[in-house]
Amino acid sequence: MDKRAFQFSPVQRYLDRIHEELLDLKDGAVADYIPELTRADPSWLGIAMVTVDGHVYQVGDSRQSFTIQSISKAITYGLALEDRGLDQVLSKVGVEPSGEAFNSISLEPGTGRPMNPMINAGAIATTGLIASTPDAPPMQRILDAFGRYTGRPMAIEETVYRSESDTGHRNRAIAHLLLGYGILDRTPEEVVDLYFRQCSILVTARDLAMIGACLANNGVNPVTGVVALQSRYVEKVLSVMSTCGMYDFSGAWIFNVGMPAKSGVGGGITAVLPGQFGLGVFSPRLDAKGNSVRGIEACKRLSKDFSLHLF
Ligand code: DON
Repeated sequence: MDKRAFQFSPVQRYLDRIHEELLDLKDGAVADYIPELTRADPSWLGIAMVTVDGHVYQVGDSRQSFTIQSISKAITYGLALEDRGLDQVLSKVGVEPSGEAFNSISLEPGTGRPMNPMINAGAIATTGLIASTPDAPPMQRILDAFGRYTGRPMAIEETVYRSESDTGHRNRAIAHLLLGYGILDRTPEEVVDLYFRQCSILVTARDLAMIGACLANNGVNPVTGVVALQSRYVEKVLSVMSTCGMYDFSGAWIFNVGMPAKSGVGGGITAVLPGQFGLGVFSPRLDAKGNSVRGIEACKRLSKDFSLHLF
């Protein structure tokens, strides 16, 4: 069970206030390049915070489900590191910011190694590294890993998955290029299918805050006590989130907000203040780079108001 945060605590009051203020911010548009994503209500706004001692604060649509999309890339990167070790993962996926859009074909000249695991090319390569065990195929292992972070069983939103699969031709093309460069050991179709499914896992803002809290807490879920990610890989995941987690906005993000974070086109953002808390914000209106407009604003305000910039 959660330790219930006091309803009238200063943190809760602060989150209530920024939630109310941000409802007036109506810039941006719901993602429409995957047809099913257009069904999101643009007015949704959920904010949640989970501290490393397991206190949970939440406000607004923090229990509303939506698909995790690219935030999944941080979790599968950690799982690939656990499955294959650092050297093997680095031989297939780099750690340099691409400065390009999330769906760019940002491959290292010559080797074909994707620039980093937070863009589609790198995430598809990463997903291709997830091991299969005698007890569990890769998708089950991905769902189990997500469940260790969130502390609850996870499920896939089938209609978003199908919509994504029906329209994801660019991702298929990227996977074929990766096969051509020897980055994938499985068929492109198998790997993109896993990737589409991992993007379609349902989460809430509270789940995103819990994911962030596990990373803030050296890999341990602060509510369940379960190890979500081996501690030796936490700094690696947080590092790529810091440099590449917000796509071609990552430089301005770390400059202004100063916390590792990862966004998704479903409208979610997970931000991490190591040793302190995880923050989850959900609001489906996105800016031109695919990041949640209100999500960015909520994190900016929190960072500024409490001087949370890591540097
Ligand atoms: O590859 C895609 O198109 C999506 N399933 C994931 C993209 C995503 O969330 C990018 N985010 N900003």
